[in-house]
Amino acid sequence: MFDVLSPMPADPILSISVAAAADPRTDKIDLGVGIYKDEAGHTPVMRAVKAAEFAYAGLEETKKYVSTTGLEAYNSALLSLILGDMDLSRFATAQSAGGSGALRLGAELIKRSSEGAQIYVPTPTWGNHTPLLGSAGIEMKKYPYYDREALDVDFDAMRAFLNATPKAGDVIILHGCCHNPTGADLSNAQWDEVSDILTARGLIAYVDLAYMGLGDGLEEDCYGIRKLAVTQEEMLIAASCSKNFGLYRDRTGLIAVKTKTADQAKVAKSHLGLIMRRMISMPPNHGAAVVAHILNTPELRADWIAELNEMRERMNGLRRSLAYGLDVQGHEEMGAALARQKGMFSMLPVTPEQAAKLRDEHSVYLLNSGRINIAGAAQDDIERLSKAILSVF
Ligand code: LMR
Repeated sequence: MFDVLSPMPADPILSISVAAAADPRTDKIDLGVGIYKDEAGHTPVMRAVKAAEFAYAGLEETKKYVSTTGLEAYNSALLSLILGDMDLSRFATAQSAGGSGALRLGAELIKRSSEGAQIYVPTPTWGNHTPLLGSAGIEMKKYPYYDREALDVDFDAMRAFLNATPKAGDVIILHGCCHNPTGADLSNAQWDEVSDILTARGLIAYVDLAYMGLGDGLEEDCYGIRKLAVTQEEMLIAASCSKNFGLYRDRTGLIAVKTKTADQAKVAKSHLGLIMRRMISMPPNHGAAVVAHILNTPELRADWIAELNEMRERMNGLRRSLAYGLDVQGHEEMGAALARQKGMFSMLPVTPEQAAKLRDEHSVYLLNSGRINIAGAAQDDIERLSKAILSVF
């Protein structure tokens, strides 16, 4: 049976960090996969997570199943964190196996709700969006987003496209903040415009929120998603706790679906539970239990926010230093772009050949698209990194 299978290509994101780990050079800089690292190159378990894990281990009295839609204390605490003080009765929620699990659950729900709906992703987008969402059997399309010459959002092209091409009921993937892979985010005024276009054209927003708190701050990063949650009759949110709680391997995510009425939200929830049952039966509990404990315990919540702020500040400091390094060596435009971009990623305007040269000759590991994870560097790396980048032009 299995002898018909041929080998699959390595994942273009994950394979970069695998190659970096195998590189014996001691001065290598791994800017590949999107994980936070501290100055020592370590991805720590956050303080509040450790404390919640100890507390939870003592509190947990059983390992019996929770439910197909997961832990309600987690679902509601995380959705309230994202949306702030608003009525959530029209939202159906389900805990998911990471943000990716949430994206897939949402895609399966879209497929059940509308046979003909197409999903539009920005160009470029996270490399796994199209395979992951498309695996639900939905036709995947693209909309213009980033201008590789201007190193910024091409909002004129995005606006013109959304106003003309998708049809009512089509789904538009929007990165809530810290756009992956470019770091180029919509301004608040642009979010307002997108909201008006979606309303006018009957398009459905599907917001991928994987980096909340790592751009400008917890509240600031939620401007767009909160705007849409108020203005849109229906929408979807896929949230991840991988990066902002550092729970990567614990697969902790949330799908939230806004429906037209509270009764429809109950129906949508029953579908999410059924989809989950047919895919993996139930989501894993540990990460969600930890997040619920943190968000519902004031001291832990405050300490989690403090550490999240420290992580963001470290990344912003690296971003400023690299921007300065590029700027003083005569690449003002690249420096300025880096400085205004947000979150973990930026996309350097390099060709795949230049990216390979950076890996081979300078032991600087970035994706072929030019995406760098700024958190992969240490302050001491920045001078060498900026010189290496400029040497390939
Ligand atoms: C990334 O973009 O590097 C992360 O989201 C990790 C992944 O699964 O691709």
